[in-house]
Amino acid sequence: MCGITGYVGYRQADKILFECLKKLEYRGYDSCGIALVTKNGLSIFKDQSRVGDLEKKYVKTKTKATAGIGHTRWATCGEPNATNAHPHSDCSKNIATVHNGTIDNYLELKKALTKKGHKFKTETDTEVFPHLVEEYMKDTDAETAFKKAFAELKGSFAIATVIGGEDKIYIGRINCPLVIGVMDGEYIIASDSTTLLKYTNRFIYLQDGDMGVISKDKVTLFRNGKTVKPKIVSVENKYDDTELHGYPHYMLKEIHEQPRIISSTIDDIEQLTLLINQINKDLGGIKMIRTLSCGSSYYSSLILRYLAPQLLGIPTFAELGSEYCSLTVAPKGSLAIAISQSGETADTIKAAKEAKAYGYKVLAITNVSDSQLSRLSDYTWITKAGPEISVAATKTVMSQAAWMYAFVLANPSLRTLQKKASISSFRKVPELMKQLLEQNDETIEVAKYLKDFEDIIYISRGITYPIALEGALKMKEIAYIHSEGYAAGELKHGPFALLSEDIPVVALVSHDKDYSSLVTNLREIKTRKAPLIVITDEKDIMLENLAEKTIVLPKCDATYVPLLHLVEVQLLAYYTAVERNNPIDFPRNLAKTVTVE
Ligand code: AGP
Repeated sequence: MCGITGYVGYRQADKILFECLKKLEYRGYDSCGIALVTKNGLSIFKDQSRVGDLEKKYVKTKTKATAGIGHTRWATCGEPNATNAHPHSDCSKNIATVHNGTIDNYLELKKALTKKGHKFKTETDTEVFPHLVEEYMKDTDAETAFKKAFAELKGSFAIATVIGGEDKIYIGRINCPLVIGVMDGEYIIASDSTTLLKYTNRFIYLQDGDMGVISKDKVTLFRNGKTVKPKIVSVENKYDDTELHGYPHYMLKEIHEQPRIISSTIDDIEQLTLLINQINKDLGGIKMIRTLSCGSSYYSSLILRYLAPQLLGIPTFAELGSEYCSLTVAPKGSLAIAISQSGETADTIKAAKEAKAYGYKVLAITNVSDSQLSRLSDYTWITKAGPEISVAATKTVMSQAAWMYAFVLANPSLRTLQKKASISSFRKVPELMKQLLEQNDETIEVAKYLKDFEDIIYISRGITYPIALEGALKMKEIAYIHSEGYAAGELKHGPFALLSEDIPVVALVSHDKDYSSLVTNLREIKTRKAPLIVITDEKDIMLENLAEKTIVLPKCDATYVPLLHLVEVQLLAYYTAVERNNPIDFPRNLAKTVTVE
């Protein structure tokens, strides 16, 4: 996890580093810091604070440095406090390092360095690196010392180091991202290219194991012990709308963008058919799908697990990236679909690499076009959600969920009549979603009711079950209320023991083929005195009898009701978190992109 950045050129480095760090906070915001290169040494500023707050404090001590590095942290090794904030330095305080990832052998290295007299001040794994460089620099030049130190590390990491008095940045990466932005007479580095788009659209992407030295007029890159010519890639510079536009939080703004996302997904169905045709051609027909994803992206993938076997006759298996272990070679016609809004989630990337190694063709569904996932996959589909700032994913989840429907509709094997009817119902969804977004009174009333509970259970059946899982995740993530999602039929296999007046059950009800079984489950729950909150596409006497409180969604074709349920569970979590005065967009202990396993 963590975001790293660096600048070397002719401009004032501090301003640029703070600007980049603000963009990188989605990777963690436990603490932050910068190290600036001065004539005689380094100036390091760091604290357990958000970047904006550190910048405010920093203004008073402004320097004119034109080289430096910066870091925003998601704590992996060592508590999230000011001491453990990066950059970390050596004994002389003349070498500073920022690091994303984990150094697995840091304890051995620390022990050996301590024996040689090095003094450590933090609990982090990172701190061993500047000390290692310092140790090697006793006998050799800085570049060789950096290379030797880098070669000693085991684990997954991206590292940037500066040395006092040298306008240079030493970099290296294995399994964690690092990109160099190219400008005239200046270079800028970051954990992702989007952060750098304000400055440039020309990038050098480092490969695993690459090391380099950057000064204002050149990049020297080393690969497998040899110097290689850096390859500069130009990418399309996308519009980056990150304003709040009057909304109190990014999460609410992003929830309100969802009707547009459905419309653009529908508009892209023909384009998607072309991609599916290509995949069918390459595979000799898609005979089996394995989805790979984590968190909310995994819940989106579950939608395909229901749709694809039923409507396309394609067996579909949903795998968690972190638990993926395909031990067999892919059968002919196997497609792995890796879903990740960021395209940088370590577990998903690892699973996708493994799937490739077993012979699967990999299709990436991501919101970031030049992400690691998209670069390693055989095919990429870019969702059109636009940049998502809130750590709790909403519009990107909607873009993935809508894609699952679009994948089925775009598939040539779906009968034309069925396709036509279904696309025309799909087209009505954005308007119904707008109606839902305008009717918040019932949701706010339920949020006020839920805010004082310590546990909530979410249930549903069939294709709406993944939305119950997502609803529970959103409630945990931003309202900090312990919530669990269950398939309604599973409650009686154990969780029933928990039911009481103290645990409300939020039931997502659709008038589809699962309706009667779900109502039977609701009756069983009511009998055990748990308060029932029903979110439904249609009010009826049965539900009125059972529910403590009801939220009614606009009437919609049964196939697409899950998409309306998805909006409603997002709103419910949002308003509950507001009632509890929680920090909505940046919940505690989390990061938007999870780049560690
Ligand atoms: C959702 O609100 C979470 N932030 C989280 O579960 C997220 O979906 C997960 O980390 C996967 O991220 P990705 O889509 O970028 O791979």
